[in-house]
Amino acid sequence: MYTTPRYRIQEICLDDAANMNVLAQFSTDAAKQNSSKWLSTKSDAMKELRQCVIPSNYSRMATKNNRPVGWISSFPINKLVWEIHPLLIDPDNHGEGIGTHLVKEVEQTLRARGVQTIQVSTTDATNATNLSEKDLYIDPLGELQRLDVRDATIGHAFKFWVRSGYKVVGVIPDAEGIGIPSICLAKRLVPFSIESHSD
Ligand SMILES: CC(C)(COP(=O)(O)OP(=O)(O)OC[C@H]1O[C@@H](n2cnc3c(N)ncnc32)[C@H](O)[C@@H]1OP(=O)(O)O)[C@@H](O)C(=O)NCCC(=O)NCCS
Repeated sequence: MYTTPRYRIQEICLDDAANMNVLAQFSTDAAKQNSSKWLSTKSDAMKELRQCVIPSNYSRMATKNNRPVGWISSFPINKLVWEIHPLLIDPDNHGEGIGTHLVKEVEQTLRARGVQTIQVSTTDATNATNLSEKDLYIDPLGELQRLDVRDATIGHAFKFWVRSGYKVVGVIPDAEGIGIPSICLAKRLVPFSIESHSD
């Protein structure tokens, strides 16, 4: 178990109705910051929890004073690459370092399991970056080089990932509808070594 002075990182127990209720409630609140459609109801959030918290994935929650305040899940793409989805922090506790600690916990565990790369995608359905509401097919790489938030006081989750050491490696235009792109980021968990190709 990964512990910080203020938070505990724990397994998520699907049978713990009280915790599940809290997780589902703040998940809908947090998801609203990304999209008006994603996890728009508590029942959608409960379904997401049940789909993600399965033995083949790696999922954890952060608790503060024994109350869940954030959760993360990750799943394998292949033996070497895993994806993080989702990461949701109770909006009442944003900016307290909880997202950072959950990501570190996942990275530490996956690295120990031999995973070399973590990928993550973050949608811009709120017009928070200069990639939204544009035909990105005209100059996708140029647009990516100019990627920024429209308003620094509002921000966007891609900034969180960059702050956590992830690199912007691509964009899927229209991923969730015309003009709603998905920004792709990745992080290598091991030192760069060509020798690692040999086996
Ligand atoms: C994005 C999210 C996971 C960040 O979690 P958090 O616990 O608030 O983040 P932290 O406190 O660990 O922040 C770490 C750093 O990222 C920055 N950051 C976090 N969210 C940010 C945002 N939306 N825009 C810009 N910067 C952000 C913080 O300012 C902080 O920077 P600093 O160390 O220079 O002060 C959380 O805000 C959230 O749940 N958002 C809604 C759902 C979402 O977007 N999930 C991610 C989908 S891919």
